[in-house]
Amino acid sequence: MMKRVTLRGAFGAAAAAAAIAAAGTALAENDPPIKDLIINGEEKMIVVAEPQPGVSELEMEYDGWLFRSPETQALQMDDFENPGMIFVEQAEEMWNTAEGSEGKSCASCHGDPSSMKGVRATYPKMSKSLGKLATIEMEVNNCRTERMGAEPWKYTGGKMVAMNALITLQSRGMPVDVKVDDAVRANWEHGKELYYARTGQLELSCANCHEQHYGERIRADMLSQGQINGFPAYRLKNGKLNGIHARFKGCVRDTRAETYKPGSQEFIDLELYVATRGNGLSVTGPSVRN
Ligand code: HEC
Ligand code: HEC
Repeated sequence: MMKRVTLRGAFGAAAAAAAIAAAGTALAENDPPIKDLIINGEEKMIVVAEPQPGVSELEMEYDGWLFRSPETQALQMDDFENPGMIFVEQAEEMWNTAEGSEGKSCASCHGDPSSMKGVRATYPKMSKSLGKLATIEMEVNNCRTERMGAEPWKYTGGKMVAMNALITLQSRGMPVDVKVDDAVRANWEHGKELYYARTGQLELSCANCHEQHYGERIRADMLSQGQINGFPAYRLKNGKLNGIHARFKGCVRDTRAETYKPGSQEFIDLELYVATRGNGLSVTGPSVRN
């Protein structure tokens, strides 16, 4: 513990991360072994970052990839091996397909998916169109219902999560930069409250597992910091891409608590708060997890 703090104080986060990597082993009990995440042999991700003051109790932020087995890690290092990419391809088709009463596709207005570069890195944020804090899912459905005259997609449905993966991929490698300005501060505070609230029969908060015990084994799993920069995440366990709120729901249920609905104000606010706990890490979705 002391050793790590001293290192950071003396050299800053980047040097400390390099020192940890050079040592080959973690300096503190909870730290994962630091490795480089380089995708397709050329895109280097930021998997270790320094938290902003006042956001969390984390000393360093770690991408969830660092906590996975070498086999699972390897799947995310090559887009041909990453099963999440099949869904991205499906989304590319949807992007170009006209739907709804206006006869428009996403491409009609947004052009190439690359026009979405940077979007994933800044969401959730205050939306001009919606006049409130919005997630990417909300923006997509707003375009569908208000601009295309099409049916909204189910918040955690396959089409929505695939489209989110396509949008996310455009920002891969960019540092997460989610802002907390006055317009969304109350949402952020609410999200933070939810993060530290103990729930369920087990009386566990998100922080109990993901802040105090990351790096430790729980059942067959190893606890990560519960970061969301890697979402959507392809899970080997259910063989599909999973959105952020679906993951939140699973975690809350594990504490044997009544869970909130995906798309609920609670989960939107929680997403905003959790996103800021990972500011500085790269957008790494679609990721691969067990
Ligand atoms: C009729 C034109 C139109 C169509 C069709 C359309 N959009 Fe949009 N979209 C907009 C406008 C206008 C905005 C708000 C201004 C902006 O941010 O570009 C927007 C905003 C967005 C945003 C937020 C972007 C940001 O920078 O914050 C996302 C994400 C998005 N659209 C996705 C989609 C997807 C996915 C589809 C297809 C399912 C789609 N849109 C279809 C016009 C359209
Ligand atoms: C009982 C312990 C426990 C609690 C409490 C818990 N989680 Fe989790 N969570 C896990 C486990 C186990 C995993 C899978 C391994 C991992 O990535 O940590 C996980 C995974 C995650 C992930 C995926 C991380 C990644 O990189 O793939 C997110 C995000 C997450 N949790 C958020 C939350 C949030 C938000 C809360 C509070 C609402 C919460 N968790 C509460 C145990 C917990």
